Amino acid sequence: MQNKVVLITGGARGMGRATGAALAALGAEKIILVDWQGEEGTRARDAINAQAGRMAAEFIYCDLSSIGAVKALAKEIRGRHRKLDVLINNAGITDPVRRLSSDGFEMHLATCHLSHFMLSNLLLEPLQASGAGRIVCITSAAYKAGPGLDFDDINNEKIWRGKSVSNGAAFNAYHRAKLCNIYLMKELHERLQGRGLTVNAASPGYFINTSIHRQLTGVFALGARVVFGIGTLLHLNTPEQGARTHVWLASSAEVEGVSGEYFENCAPRAVSPMANDQQVRQRLWRWSEEATNVSFPL
Ligand SMILES: NC(=O)c1ccc[n+]([C@@H]2O[C@H](COP(=O)([O-])OP(=O)(O)OC[C@H]3O[C@@H](n4cnc5c(N)ncnc54)[C@H](OP(=O)(O)O)[C@@H]3O)[C@@H](O)[C@H]2O)c1
Repeated sequence: MQNKVVLITGGARGMGRATGAALAALGAEKIILVDWQGEEGTRARDAINAQAGRMAAEFIYCDLSSIGAVKALAKEIRGRHRKLDVLINNAGITDPVRRLSSDGFEMHLATCHLSHFMLSNLLLEPLQASGAGRIVCITSAAYKAGPGLDFDDINNEKIWRGKSVSNGAAFNAYHRAKLCNIYLMKELHERLQGRGLTVNAASPGYFINTSIHRQLTGVFALGARVVFGIGTLLHLNTPEQGARTHVWLASSAEVEGVSGEYFENCAPRAVSPMANDQQVRQRLWRWSEEATNVSFPL
């Protein structure tokens, strides 16, 4: 990772933070942690720098659900870094309350998909300048645990209808968002053919003990606490373990030139037929372009 510049969304906590620490330990020149958890973000930056014994990490505050904030972030990165070697589209949420971004998009859609759609397009220039830029899209096996996208309900209104708090709706919105992560990866892969860039997706595993599930309520919250507790006792689901595929896809020579693949536990897996649907993927891309006014720049 020497001389490599890496940007990680959702880098203040959980697997984003663990990925930053691991890549700094592998010698990355600069780890840019992006998050809206300011205190956690500065603490993560300081911890990585202390561990590395150098100024390896920086923290940038950004509300990734805001179209304007993501565009400003991309502009700042392009202004400060001639090249970007790795972009890790990692930030994600699970929220049983339907909340809207400042632009009016439901938060799972805005945070998990639209932010990463924009960053992947707006940072292609410095990624290309790297010579072998890598984009890593963090999805979840939840991408296959539902009926897929509904373009008549792209903003996740119907799934919450009549309920102010719903774990089921949160899971459905999460499923759709994680499917979008794979569609984004597949479409980018097609568009980036022959340009020296790679893009892959990874699922980190199940029930990794991070704070992503903290908003769940009732039996879901109880179930999550039990499963996380047991996993932690058995040392099965730490953020560091969950981040192994993030780190491997960002750094390993084994995946040099590999693109368009979905990985679990550092091994390629076929995606479901739903995730391979080219028409849905292309329709999502066009919708995302219109929603954000960002398009493929190359
Ligand atoms: N944990 C699991 O079991 C699991 C399983 C499969 C896949 N994943 C995926 O792995 C990735 C990382 O998850 P994690 O478990 O490490 O989550 P995490 O610990 O909650 O870390 C995600 C970070 O992203 C931040 N974030 C959320 N919305 C943001 C926004 N609008 N702007 C800026 N930052 C924002 C979060 O802040 P807040 O804390 O305020 O939300 C948090 O600091 C996600 O894509 C997730 O879907 C997780």
